[in-house]
This record gives sequence, C-alpha cells and structure tokens, in this order.
Amino acid sequence: MTPVPVAVLVSGGGTNLQALLDALRDSPVARIERVVSSGADVGALARARRAGVPTVVLAHPDDPGEVVTATGDAGLVVLAGYLKRIPPAAVAQRRWRLINIHPALLPAFGGPGMYGRRVHEAVLASGAALSGATVHYVDEEYDRGPIIAQWPVPVRRDDTPDTLAARVLEVEHRLLPQVVVELARLGVPGKPVRLFPQGSAFVTGDKLAVDLDNTTDGRTGGRADC
Ligand code: GRF
Repeated sequence: MTPVPVAVLVSGGGTNLQALLDALRDSPVARIERVVSSGADVGALARARRAGVPTVVLAHPDDPGEVVTATGDAGLVVLAGYLKRIPPAAVAQRRWRLINIHPALLPAFGGPGMYGRRVHEAVLASGAALSGATVHYVDEEYDRGPIIAQWPVPVRRDDTPDTLAARVLEVEHRLLPQVVVELARLGVPGKPVRLFPQGSAFVTGDKLAVDLDNTTDGRTGGRADC
C-alpha cells in the first residue's frame, strides 16, 4: 500500500501538527508531504522544518488557485489550527478530502469567530456538562461540514477556559491522528465516512482512551463498504 500523501494547513503553534507528525512518522498508510501556513510567523512551521517536511506560506489564503496549488497532489488535506476559510472553489476541487479539527462538540460552539479561547469561554458560559473535539469535513462554511468523529470531555466544576482547553487539546491530539489513519486506510473515499467509538468507554471521566470503530455511510446505524 502506498502511503496517502497528506498536506496539513496551519495558522498557530502546531501541537495538532506535532501529534500528526509523531503518529505518522513510520506509518505505512499516510505520510505528511507538506505543511501549508496562512502566514510566515507561525510556530507550526518550525515543527515542520524540524521534521524535515517541506513548507509553503500562502500569500493569499483566499485565492482558490493558490490553495489548490499549495496542497499539491495530497490525497488528504488536514486543517490543524488553520484559521482561514477555504475558498469555495478550492473546496469543490477537494470535496471529501478536506478535514478540520474543532475544539468543541459541533454543531454547537462553532462558526465564524469561534476559535481558540472563545470556544471554551462559550462552552463554560452555556453551562454545558460536556465539551470535546470534533473532526469534520470542510465545506463552504466554517465548522459546518459533515461530522466524521467526536470525542467528549466532561466539564469540571472548577474549569476555566484554559483548563478546559488543555484537556480538549489532549483529546484532539489522539482523535485527529486516528481519523487520518482510518481515512487513509480506507483510501480516502469520495463520500462521507463516519467513525464511531468502540465499546462503552465514551464518557468515562478522565479516561482518555480514544478507540474508534469504522465506517458507515454517514447515516447512523447502517454500514456500507466504501
Ligand atoms: C486547536 O484547539 C484546534 O482545535 C483549533 O485551534 C487549536 C490549534 O492548536 N482549531 P494547535 O495550533 O494545533 O496547537
């Protein structure tokens, strides 16, 4: 099996990128072939260079041609802390090959302006008992594409936006590589894939064992061969 070439889009410090670099280092199914940044002074670029992965800095992140060229022949494009909207024309050329990680349980606490600390402030302000991480397909709108996988993080009585963000980030670092490996293993199907948790370890407090069961065709209950 030839590893699926993966392009990772970044705008921040790159801890999700690091989790992918570590998880895919010797992977037979997926290989990070380039890191694309929305700006030159982005911490994630240093992580890519340390790992010897080629980097590209976008001059115009809103230019669909530049985004498509920058992602090259990647079979899967992963938005890992990427804050720009993918131009619709680029989404159309990469349909079902563009995924994003969001630090909350979408469809709640997502959308324009909902990133970083604001997300966790909104979760705490809402009184929600559960937060978590979501990996979803990217479409023409922020945080709206079909959900691929989610993992919950219980909110604690004494949580602050920073303490909640830290526990959600730990789960992100486990969930995102698993989703990338599973999609690559399936050959990145040209239609939506949904991954479900295995067993009943879904909300067992601080137990961070993240196990995913694979695919249905996006509808709950049914199974389909991709
Ligand atoms: C993560 O919480 C991610 O979900 C969100 O931005 C944060 C970026 O973290 N989109 P990093 O740059 O991967 O450390």
